[in-house]
Amino acid sequence: MPEQAPKVRKLSGHIGAEISGLDLARLDEREFKRLHDLFLEHQVLVLRDQMLTRDQHIALGKRFGELHVHPMAKGPEGYPEIFPIEAGANSSNDPKAIRAGKKAVNGGHWHSDVSCDPEPPLGSILYLREVPEFGGDTLFSSGYAAYEALSPAMQNFLEELTAVHSGEATYRLHYGDQRAQDRSRFGFHNGQAYPEAVHPVVRRHPETGRKSLFVNRGFTREIVELGHAESQALLEFLYRHQETPEFQVRVQWAANTVTLWDNRCTQHRAVFDYAGQVRRGERVTIKGDRPDSVTRHASPQWALAGA
Ligand code: SIN
Repeated sequence: MPEQAPKVRKLSGHIGAEISGLDLARLDEREFKRLHDLFLEHQVLVLRDQMLTRDQHIALGKRFGELHVHPMAKGPEGYPEIFPIEAGANSSNDPKAIRAGKKAVNGGHWHSDVSCDPEPPLGSILYLREVPEFGGDTLFSSGYAAYEALSPAMQNFLEELTAVHSGEATYRLHYGDQRAQDRSRFGFHNGQAYPEAVHPVVRRHPETGRKSLFVNRGFTREIVELGHAESQALLEFLYRHQETPEFQVRVQWAANTVTLWDNRCTQHRAVFDYAGQVRRGERVTIKGDRPDSVTRHASPQWALAGA
């Protein structure tokens, strides 16, 4: 019997597709190639009713590339490349409540995963096994759509700029201050307590060649070439611009849904509107490369203090 091609249902005008007819635990070469092509085309893919063991989840990630180990989060015993996503009765999105002992919800603010790394992840694959009765959606926004909607004058201006991305604020909130207090034990390369890097504000996708905005509220701190006030005002404009609903897709989860996203051209936010309920799953994250600038002039000053 001839194999059926997977079905593709676009979820919004610019980003996201739901794919059916693929079993992620058993993809042959042709199916994986199709999945990979769809990933590049739609930026975010949603696949329902998947049954993946932890090893199969990891094996799927490895077909995209080497796996990333999160600089702060600890995986389950023997699985350092697994990033646990778990929110329950003791979780909160409110910094005050977190400081008072509640556990911070992962990804509750717009971000591209670990963009503070000198080589930020290519993509992520999140598998949720337990979901709340309502809520707990994830919003994704397309950096391509955001870039393409800007005027040519603004595009040209942004293409010359670079921005500092830092893990400090987010990681202090999630993991406390232990790294800042003990750099010798936890220090990253060059003795920094938290990862930090400089990336182009507009990056060129290494596989599609398309240009994408690459700043996010979670990690971007300032634009290198501008004064502080200019930098804050421009970043706030860009964040709001990227949050335009027309550039977004909203993924509604069910148990055993897998969502894959391309961190090079999207950012996301996990909506925390299910306090008191459980939302649980695991993510694997695929290593990426240094973001490419789109101009010849933008300075390739990747790591602030030299890697
Ligand atoms: C994340 O990877 O940032 C979490 C996304 C989610 O929980 O929906």
